[in-house]
Amino acid sequence: MTAVGPLRDRFGRVATDLRISLTDLCSLRCTYCMPAEGLDWLTKAQRLTDDEFVRLASVFVGLGVTSMRLTGGEPLVHPTLPAVIARLAALSPRPALSLTTNGVTLAGRAQELAASGLERVNVSLDTLDRERFAALTRRDRLPEVLAGIEAAAAAGLDPLKINAVLARDSNLDEAPALLAWSLERGLRLRFIEHMPLDADHLWSREDMVTADEIQGLLSAAGYELRPFGRRGNAPAEEFEVLDGPGRERWAGREPRVGIIASVTRPFCRECDRLRLTADGQLRTCLFAQTETDLRAPLRNGACDAELAELIAEAVAGKQAGHGIDAVDFVQPARSMSAIGG
Ligand code: 5AD
Ligand code: SF4
Repeated sequence: MTAVGPLRDRFGRVATDLRISLTDLCSLRCTYCMPAEGLDWLTKAQRLTDDEFVRLASVFVGLGVTSMRLTGGEPLVHPTLPAVIARLAALSPRPALSLTTNGVTLAGRAQELAASGLERVNVSLDTLDRERFAALTRRDRLPEVLAGIEAAAAAGLDPLKINAVLARDSNLDEAPALLAWSLERGLRLRFIEHMPLDADHLWSREDMVTADEIQGLLSAAGYELRPFGRRGNAPAEEFEVLDGPGRERWAGREPRVGIIASVTRPFCRECDRLRLTADGQLRTCLFAQTETDLRAPLRNGACDAELAELIAEAVAGKQAGHGIDAVDFVQPARSMSAIGG
């Protein structure tokens, strides 16, 4: 096989992180992500099988991919998730394995996932108020999510990160409370700026809550933040929490908070990510208008070298950045839940 790795693009960026959307299905209907009635789900025939996911993953590992994150939709909806994790953990060299979940069914699964080889979990949690959670996700499942977070911590999935998206008309006032709650439990909270990836196309630049605004809110609530380390190719800017309300309850816990300012402080220059959708399409950017079909060649009997060539070609053509601020920006046809965060 001709050597096509590492996966370098025209701008010198090297892709080492693969996000695999195992399913487009989800157990919640977050208003900023999906319509109430859900989406046109992929059919079983369209979705990759476990064998196909693992086969493609092995080609990516051969191309220098060193970390994989399993996403959805909701990856815990995928019936054989632990088996997939175990098979990915058996690849050589073994990739670092993490999961992004809404946490709804995590409580009963966390131990099993950790035993299968999962190392880290990010749980989405936008509010601590049950009614608000039910309105925001259109499902009354907050108690399950909280139990899931507890179970993940007990299973040793560490660091355990919490993802929160703030919406002006809903949970904006909860930013300090979410931080207090996370710090007390030794959880790494990260606020994510809302990106134009919602299925309803309701996103607007004027309405979105910016990183500057979030920092201002936390500071007004008495939190003193200091930039922590270099951002490198991690999307979150991390801050050390030097002081703040309830400080005695998080003493000695490396208190930190992150902000993922994809829109107002883009990190495209450092992006090392690739995304594989549940129907086997490779996306080199969340906001790409084109995808590379890996499923058809896979099903038509392509060998590893041929698949590797296709992947390398797609990466070479990766766009410079998301271009959200450009006048001709067009939101991609697929929404967040069909791409995988
Ligand atoms: N913009 C930003 N974050 C989003 N998420 C879902 N949709 C969006 C969006 N349009 C978040 C989820 C989850 C992670 C995968 O991305 O809340 O935490
Ligand atoms: Fe909510 Fe994530 Fe499901 Fe979208 S995919 S509805 S953000 S839990």
